[in-house]
Amino acid sequence: MASSSFSRAVFQRIQSCILGIGSLVLAFAAVPALSGAPAAAQTSPANVWWKHAVVYEIYPRSFQDSNGDGVGDLNGITSRLSYIESMGIDTIWIAPMYPSPQIDFGYDISDYVSVDPQYGTLADMERLITEGKKHNVRVVLDMVLNHTSDKHQWFIDSASSRTSPKHDWYVWNDGIPIDSAGVNDYQKKYVQTNLEGKHVVPPNNWESLFGGSAWEWVPAVHQYYYHKFYKQQPDLNWSNPTVEKAAFDAMRFWLDRGVAGFRLDAIPTLFEDPQMRSEPVLAGTNAQGDPNLQEIYTQNLPEVHNVIRRMRVMVNGYAGDRVLIGETYLPNTAELNKWYGGEAHDELQLPMDFLVGFHGDHDKLNAANFRARIDEVQTQVYGSQPLFVFDNHDNVRAIDRYGDGTHNDLINKVLNTVLLTSKATALTYYGAELGMPTTTPTRKEDVKDPIGITGWPKEKGRDGERTPMQWTAGPQAGFSTNPKTWLPIPPSYKTNNVAVETKDPNSELNWFKQLAMLRRTNPALHDGKQTMLDASNPDVLSYARSTGSGPAVVVAMNFTAEPKTISLDLSGTGITGSTVKTLAADDASLKSVHSLKNITLPPYTSWVASVQ
Ligand code: GLC
Repeated sequence: MASSSFSRAVFQRIQSCILGIGSLVLAFAAVPALSGAPAAAQTSPANVWWKHAVVYEIYPRSFQDSNGDGVGDLNGITSRLSYIESMGIDTIWIAPMYPSPQIDFGYDISDYVSVDPQYGTLADMERLITEGKKHNVRVVLDMVLNHTSDKHQWFIDSASSRTSPKHDWYVWNDGIPIDSAGVNDYQKKYVQTNLEGKHVVPPNNWESLFGGSAWEWVPAVHQYYYHKFYKQQPDLNWSNPTVEKAAFDAMRFWLDRGVAGFRLDAIPTLFEDPQMRSEPVLAGTNAQGDPNLQEIYTQNLPEVHNVIRRMRVMVNGYAGDRVLIGETYLPNTAELNKWYGGEAHDELQLPMDFLVGFHGDHDKLNAANFRARIDEVQTQVYGSQPLFVFDNHDNVRAIDRYGDGTHNDLINKVLNTVLLTSKATALTYYGAELGMPTTTPTRKEDVKDPIGITGWPKEKGRDGERTPMQWTAGPQAGFSTNPKTWLPIPPSYKTNNVAVETKDPNSELNWFKQLAMLRRTNPALHDGKQTMLDASNPDVLSYARSTGSGPAVVVAMNFTAEPKTISLDLSGTGITGSTVKTLAADDASLKSVHSLKNITLPPYTSWVASVQ
C-alpha cells in the first residue's frame, strides 16, 4: 500500500506547545433505555459499559452519502449500522453534525440544538439513536464548548454592542496603547484605532492555533475578541456563569434524546489567564509562520476543572451511565490524572490518552516507549480507566505516522492489536480498520481545510485523513452516487475497501474484527489485568491479561523488520499454565505455537494466545 512520510501537524503542535511546560454479560446487554428523566441509577464501576467499549469516530461528511450530494450524512451512518456492529464496535462518536457555516467543518457551531440540513434533520438523528440501540451501538456526540461560530446568534448579539446582554458571553478586550511596555512587533501588526482615536493593539501575544493573532477587532464595539482557533470561532467566556448554563442546557437537550455521552472538543482551552499575560516565546516559527509560544496562559488552566466537576454531576443525573470523553492533549500522565479528578474520580470518565498513540514528530514503533506509557497510565491514575487512541480527523493516520513504507499493513495490525488487546477503552477512527492511508492533497488549489490553504506548503491541512470511507471498488468507492465528492476518493480504494477486505481472511478488516470479538468473548481480554512480560526487550512488546481465574491471555508483537525470538516467563504474574493455544496470529507460522519458549515472531507480526 502506498505510503509516504509526513511531517506536521497542528495537533502535534498543540501537544508540543504544552510540553514546554466487568462483567462479560454487560458487553452484550442491550443499550439501556435512555430516558431524559434524571434518575441517577449508575452501574457498578467495574461493569460499566464504557470500560469495555470500542468507540468508532465517524466524520459525518465522509462516511456515507445517502442523498447523492457528495457529502456524507446521518441517514448514511444509519444505513451502515450493521457494518459497524459486525466489526465489534459498540459506540460511535460523530464529529459535529450541528448547523454550521462549516469553516472548520462543523467545529464552528451556529446552533447547538439542531442538525445541519446537509447532514439531515433532528428526526434523522433520533432515528439513528433508536436504530443504534437495535444494533447495540451507542451514539456519542461531539460537544464544542470552547467556542461557537461567529454566525451563532449568541455571538451576533454579543458583537452588536457593548451593552448587549450577551456581550460578556465572549472574551472581549479594549486593547492596549501601542506604546505600552512590552508590546512586540507581532502585536503591532494588529493595530486599530479605538473610540478616543488612539492606536491600540491586542493586549498580549496570544496566537490562534490556526495562524495569526488570536485577537480580532470588531468596529461596532471597538474591541478585540479572542479566538483560539479560526477567527470565525470566537471563544466563549467561561467565567460568565450564564455561559455555563447555556452550554449545559445544550448538553441536556441531547442527553434527553438518548445520546450516550459527549466527546468534549478542545476542552483544555476553556479558560484564559484573566491577567492577559503574554505567553513565553520559544525559538523558531510554526508552520503558519508565527512565533512558537509556550501556551501556559491559554491552555489547561486550573479553572476548567471546576466546570468539569459540575458537568459530571449534571451528566450523572441521567440513567444509563452517560460518559464524558475529553480531547485532552497533555504533556504527561500526571496532567492526565487531573482530568479524571485524580483520587476523587469526579471529572471525565475517559480523557483521551494521546501519550501512547501520538509521540509528536517522533512517532515510531518503539517497544520500550509503548511499554512505559501503557504501564504508566494503568498505575498512575488511581485506577481510572485509560482510553487509547491512535487516529482521528486532525492527524496524519497512524498507519502513515508509524508505517515504514514497506510493512505498513502489518504495522497497522500491530497498532490495532495494542488498541484492542490492552485493558484500556479503545477509540478508533473510520478507515483505520481497513488500513486506509492518508491521502494529502498535492496541489494547494485542491485543499479544503483552511489551515492547509494558509499554511501551504508547510502545513497541508487535514484533508488527507478525512477522505471518504472506502466501501467498494465501484464508483466513488460506494461512498456516494455523485461523481463529485466533497474530497476526492483516494486511489487506494481499489484494493483497500470493505468489500474486498471482507473476503480476504488475512485483511486488516478481518484482523480488527477478530480482535474486537475476542475482546468481548474472552474474559481475560475483556477484563483482565494487564502485566508487561519480557519487560526489557527492546524489540518485542508483550504482556499478559488475566482475571485471576480462568485461562490468561498473552499478547506479543514484533516491533521490528527482523524476525525476533522470544521466551515469555510468567513467574511472578500469578498466572499458572504453560501450554498455549493461539487465538489470533497474523502469520501462519504462529498458529501452531504451543509453548512460551523460543517463539519466533516474523517482522511486525502480532500474536495472541490463551495460556492453559
Ligand atoms: C478540535 C477538533 C478540531 C477542531 C478544533 C477546533 O481539536 O478536533 O478538528 O479544528 O478542535 O474546534
